[in-house]
Amino acid sequence: MKILACYSMKGGVGKTATSVNMAWFAAQAGVKTLLIDMDPQGASTFYFRAKQKKKAWDERFFQAYENLLKNVKSTEFENLDILAAHLSFRSFDINLSGMKKAQTRLQRVLKGFKKNYDLIILDCPPTISLLSENVFNAADMILVPVIPTTLSERTLEQLNSFFQEHELPVKNIVPYLSMVQRAKAMHKDSSTRLRDTQKRLLKAAIPFSSDVEKMGLHCLPLGEFASNKSAFIHYRSLWREVFDLLEGS
Ligand SMILES: Nc1ncnc2c1ncn2[C@@H]1O[C@H](COP(=O)(O)OP(=O)(O)OP(=O)(O)O)[C@@H](O)[C@H]1O
Ligand SMILES: [Mg+2]
Repeated sequence: MKILACYSMKGGVGKTATSVNMAWFAAQAGVKTLLIDMDPQGASTFYFRAKQKKKAWDERFFQAYENLLKNVKSTEFENLDILAAHLSFRSFDINLSGMKKAQTRLQRVLKGFKKNYDLIILDCPPTISLLSENVFNAADMILVPVIPTTLSERTLEQLNSFFQEHELPVKNIVPYLSMVQRAKAMHKDSSTRLRDTQKRLLKAAIPFSSDVEKMGLHCLPLGEFASNKSAFIHYRSLWREVFDLLEGS
């Protein structure tokens, strides 16, 4: 079982759009997949129209794998299950800070899913916190959407530095270009700079596209309503690269 985290401390960069589409591609390829929506905003949960629990259950999340398993729901897609978010997940950091081995709790509970899934995808909230450290320790790959702008480049540098300072495996950070607008000079310059400096930057680049925005209207992954469109084709290339890297890891 592999764990793929869609992560950036920057908000609104495409983590959820990528989590949802990667989960769909994986499931289509016959990979038994669990998407875990760790963000109290619950955007992945919304895209898959998954039911959220009424009562808060954040305190039980990191205690035992069985607590997670109880809340897993199937989606309308074969091979794809989801663990819906809850607003109470906003307290994850507080809960974790009172626990022993607070940096590796996620890794421990996810191990339980080994027998059920080939792939776990984590849709992460935009923060760099104790929860994020749990994600860094648990994931085989941290897939980082980077909008080619100065601030996003800086965010990626900060993440690389954080990994170095905390002796985390920098090689697990895998950035890709997100929401690219080729007509913009800044996007062009920043993309070139990132290609020159980031050796792990993936070849696939996701264009800015209204089709991705329409996922919210349809509550569906791109493959279900835009499979002949450019955004879908680029996401398919992204999935292929991610899959090959995960296979080799
Ligand atoms: N390639 C794209 N082209 C155009 N719009 C996009 C693209 N990717 C995502 N969006 C839109 O941008 C917004 C933010 O995307 P998304 O929710 O995937 O980002 P996020 O990083 O998960 O955000 P958050 O940090 O709030 O969780 C959404 O409205 C989404 O529809
Ligand atoms: Mg999101």
